[in-house]
Amino acid sequence: MQRIFLTGLSGSGKSTIGRKVSELLQWEFIDTDALLSERYGMPVGQILIEFGEPSFRQMESEALVLAADNEHVVIATGGGAIIAEASRSFMRENGLTVYLETSVEIAWQRVQEQIDQSGKEAERPLVVGTDGQQRLQSLFQRRKKWYEEAAVCINTNDDSLEIISKRVIAFALSSGYLNDTSQSQETVILQLGKVTSKAIIEWGGLYHLPEYLKSSGFSKRVFIVTDSDVGCFYRKPILGLLHNAGFVPHIFTLPAGEVSKSIWVWQEILNWLVEQKTEQREPIIALGGGVIGDLAGFVAATYHRGIPLIQIPTSLLAQVDSAIGGKTGINHPLGKNLIGAFYQPGLIIVDPAFLLTLPERVYREGWAEIVKYGMILDADLFETLEGHISSLHARDASLLTKIITRCIQLKMDVVQRDERDGGLRNILNYGHTFGHALEVLTDYGSWLHGEAVAVGMEVAAQIAVARGLLTNENALRQRELLLELHLPQSCPGIDTISLLEKMQRDKKVRAGHMRWILPTQIGQAEIYDDISLPLIQDAVAKIRS
Ligand SMILES: NC(=O)c1ccc[n+]([C@@H]2O[C@H](COP(=O)([O-])OP(=O)(O)OC[C@H]3O[C@@H](n4cnc5c(N)ncnc54)[C@H](O)[C@@H]3O)[C@@H](O)[C@H]2O)c1
Repeated sequence: MQRIFLTGLSGSGKSTIGRKVSELLQWEFIDTDALLSERYGMPVGQILIEFGEPSFRQMESEALVLAADNEHVVIATGGGAIIAEASRSFMRENGLTVYLETSVEIAWQRVQEQIDQSGKEAERPLVVGTDGQQRLQSLFQRRKKWYEEAAVCINTNDDSLEIISKRVIAFALSSGYLNDTSQSQETVILQLGKVTSKAIIEWGGLYHLPEYLKSSGFSKRVFIVTDSDVGCFYRKPILGLLHNAGFVPHIFTLPAGEVSKSIWVWQEILNWLVEQKTEQREPIIALGGGVIGDLAGFVAATYHRGIPLIQIPTSLLAQVDSAIGGKTGINHPLGKNLIGAFYQPGLIIVDPAFLLTLPERVYREGWAEIVKYGMILDADLFETLEGHISSLHARDASLLTKIITRCIQLKMDVVQRDERDGGLRNILNYGHTFGHALEVLTDYGSWLHGEAVAVGMEVAAQIAVARGLLTNENALRQRELLLELHLPQSCPGIDTISLLEKMQRDKKVRAGHMRWILPTQIGQAEIYDDISLPLIQDAVAKIRS
């Protein structure tokens, strides 16, 4: 039943929003008005006049059934399609009906703009003439109750087309309409003594959240921490999903961005939990990217000396990296991630369909960590990335699910052998010695974490080549892959002295020696404590130009 029906008054944006949603989902888009026009060789307004309203509504119902012949389709219905009970029940039974609610004033303005642009009043016969707005108002009064029968109602008055379209996707995801039985569901388990951390990876799997919570024995009250950007799309759908399943969700929304990973915000969340009298068995759900995962994870680790933690990573970086392995923490003004704890999430729900709403730049930065895994641990993964660039850019469902699962396996395997960063786990910091310093130097502002790491990997590869550890050809392969994924490979004009100073403060410094993870070939890396300063300076000089 992978269909979305958009309903609403003329001027509610069904066609433009429908087109955008279909583009994001890579589904077909059908406008039933266009279908009818094509079939009868005249604009729908004229069909209405020539055949009369009862026949026209019948034609609309037929067009609806025809449009829904296939799955993976977004259908913009005619403004009056919901009048017929047959059409309403057909939509109810065959997909997700979304009512795009708009005030009559705004709908009227938009209709006027369309008429002005096309110059064809006849296309809107029900609302032409000087009393058009009044007639639109009475049409709305008559139809309102039917529009409101839709499973989802989204107001389109104020937000951008992009935001509304992504909200439609968020509702489709949480209502199970993106869940596809042909896609695999993978489970990867990290077992550290008595502690189990289970990741379930499934396209559209968010829909199963209540089931997972129930089967894991979590309490009814759950405490969700999210940020303003993720909350803007997912707050309402996820609260609805949990309410409908009998849970009592509470949600704390903080400003999006690295600045929230601070002592002050950590304390604010603790205050909220104390005020809510949160109990030891009640879980924290970290719903968001790496910032939320690290911060909410640290809250879970510290409140009542530890309460259950569920990670629902929503960015690519969080799905392949930060939500896995139990590193939680916050930043100190003098350094990144300086305060934190190792604390494993009992459950990690990884739904790659979240990535459909991720902004392009944030999506791209996630690839840096994936290239990192390929470069240090898995030559096959590296080759898969090299061979599928266009599908990666297109956010292909099965490829994403496969790659994300592989990255989770790789990370869990490393953490299994070295949870506390005593040795092997350090290799996951490939590109981070430089990357973290760049983020600190620029006040966590202009560089996204993955972007900084991408430049850091180039610096590390240059050092490895200069030390005779890596061939120039392999360094070039890494650079080309990162560039094809639209990740930066230089930061012109950066202050080298300050950068070196910041690198000296990094957590990875041991007895005053900077620790470098250097690749020795594609799929393999080693840890080095003896890299000379001139070598580092030379590599940094290269990425400054
Ligand atoms: N704990 C670890 O092991 C580990 C590993 C790597 C990185 N990290 C940390 O992760 C953080 C970076 O994570 P990030 O890149 O995810 O940044 P982020 O959490 O700031 O997310 C980036 C932006 O994308 C938005 N976003 C996330 N998911 C979205 C979605 N599905 N739809 C729309 N918008 C969405 C967020 O609201 C935010 O505005 C850094 O703080 C870094 O230190 C931690």
